[in-house]
Amino acid sequence: MRVLCVCLGNICRSPTAEAVLRGLAEREAPGLITLVDSAGTAAYHVGEPPDSRSVAAAWRRGYDLSSLRARRVETADFHAFDLMLAMDRANLAALARAAPHGARARIALFLAGATALGVDEVPDPYYGSEGDFDRVLDLIEAGARRLLDRLREQAAGAASAQ
Ligand code: 4NP
Repeated sequence: MRVLCVCLGNICRSPTAEAVLRGLAEREAPGLITLVDSAGTAAYHVGEPPDSRSVAAAWRRGYDLSSLRARRVETADFHAFDLMLAMDRANLAALARAAPHGARARIALFLAGATALGVDEVPDPYYGSEGDFDRVLDLIEAGARRLLDRLREQAAGAASAQ
């Protein structure tokens, strides 16, 4: 399973989601996700490292974002990934508009199915406070755990059907 996490700038939410999903998958579900990456639907920050506030919030929970660099979603991503997970509806709509004919990837909200959270979008923290960046981590950790649970269930279902 190859997963691309998508937000607007690829400097706050989606690099956080990339690092959290990679970290949790390595620790708790080895072999389930073979590739995790992130990208933005806008090009404002291409080539830049993640926002220092995101780096700090993630580091407080043991995730290292420092080596990541922003890139924009490309047409090839729709063929290279199985899942493209948007942080909010605006970015989900941007992906739907950009999807080429015959795309392999399924597009969905990152928090889809994490119903216990009471929200299905990760709010943009860019103009927010330190607390907003911590909230991004809360939502993304919960969403990543839920995603791994669902992928584990799918893998178990596929194995028992054989
Ligand atoms: P992200 O946050 O989409 O989570 O990376 C943002 C980063 C930059 C901007 C907006 C949101 N911006 O307007 O530059």
